[in-house]
Amino acid sequence: MAASALSIQNYALLDDNDCEQRIVAAKQKLADRCIILGHHYQRDEVFRHADVSGDSLKLSRYAAESGAETIVFCGVHFMAEVADILSRPEQKVLLPDLAAGCSMADMANLANVERCWQELAQVIDAESQVTPVTYINSAADLKAFCGQHGGIVCTSTNARDILEWSFEKREKVLFFPDQHLGRNTGYGMGIPLDQMVVWDFSRPMGGLDQESIERARIILWKGFCSVHQMFQPHQIDDFLQKHPETKVIAHPEASFEVCQKADFIGSTEYILKKVREADAGSRWLVATELNLVNRLHEECKHEGKNIHFMSPTVCMCSTMFRNDPQHLAWVLENLSEGTIVNQIQVPEAEAVLARKALENMLSLA
Ligand code: 13P
Ligand code: SF4
Repeated sequence: MAASALSIQNYALLDDNDCEQRIVAAKQKLADRCIILGHHYQRDEVFRHADVSGDSLKLSRYAAESGAETIVFCGVHFMAEVADILSRPEQKVLLPDLAAGCSMADMANLANVERCWQELAQVIDAESQVTPVTYINSAADLKAFCGQHGGIVCTSTNARDILEWSFEKREKVLFFPDQHLGRNTGYGMGIPLDQMVVWDFSRPMGGLDQESIERARIILWKGFCSVHQMFQPHQIDDFLQKHPETKVIAHPEASFEVCQKADFIGSTEYILKKVREADAGSRWLVATELNLVNRLHEECKHEGKNIHFMSPTVCMCSTMFRNDPQHLAWVLENLSEGTIVNQIQVPEAEAVLARKALENMLSLA
């Protein structure tokens, strides 16, 4: 990282209104040299500055196609890594706060996944029988692992297509890090629950015996998103008792029990599209992050649509929240002075293999 001309300490105490003006001014100065990508879970004060918003798939495609010199990624670390891997070598990707990670992505690391692969190889021929599939919510070295072992990346939008591709290659899938996306997608394809086993990475052989590994079609990593585990099936039952006309829509990171009760399941982009296209006056119960749901409610309320957040408690993604207006102003003002801060750079050897797994995914759409 280049030396920072302007220190973050000078921004930490700025109020949001000051930051707002400084962000707008820096953006104007930078013009089309810089593009801001914003994930749907970003807080309003940051989200409103995004030139493009989207889910993980849409934003990674955009990063691959953008002509801007610099991509400021208002999202989390793995998203900025994907943007770096898919963008041109001369483009730079910045993440406003380097601590904006993803707690689910952190539940799988290369050492654990390599150990799992070796342990699987003791009971089956992993290389010829198992396609490794990583959810895009994972570190770049896990995408590289998939690239190295004939595997692929998926997002919440394309998980079914990716599993179909994977089963064409080999009879089993090792799916990490999100067990819920893997289970919900596999079940939707007709794979019975008893053919999807959970690999507990804290136990030898994932806590499984040889027979269950041999019988399994999908081996699910024991990872989860804590934000989406706040949604519970009884919240749906209680709500439907009061408002039986409600449509329920959930992100596939929510539990199997919640997704089974949902009328629709899909990515953040899908949820927005489905509710925006719905009839005026319709009522929706939504199981995904609060910032998205609050914005959707504000956007749709004038059409008489009622958009409700599923959980009675606040479920914000605390890591997405780390990108605050102070960090965005700091990154943009430095950039407008010619100084790069918080650049995300995936080492080239890792990027080459990760790109392979990402390109396998992108070639399918
Ligand atoms: P989407 O790709 O659906 O936006 O999901 C990303 C994510 O992290 C959801 O928790
Ligand atoms: Fe990760 Fe969950 Fe936050 Fe999505 S909502 S970025 S999966 S912690």
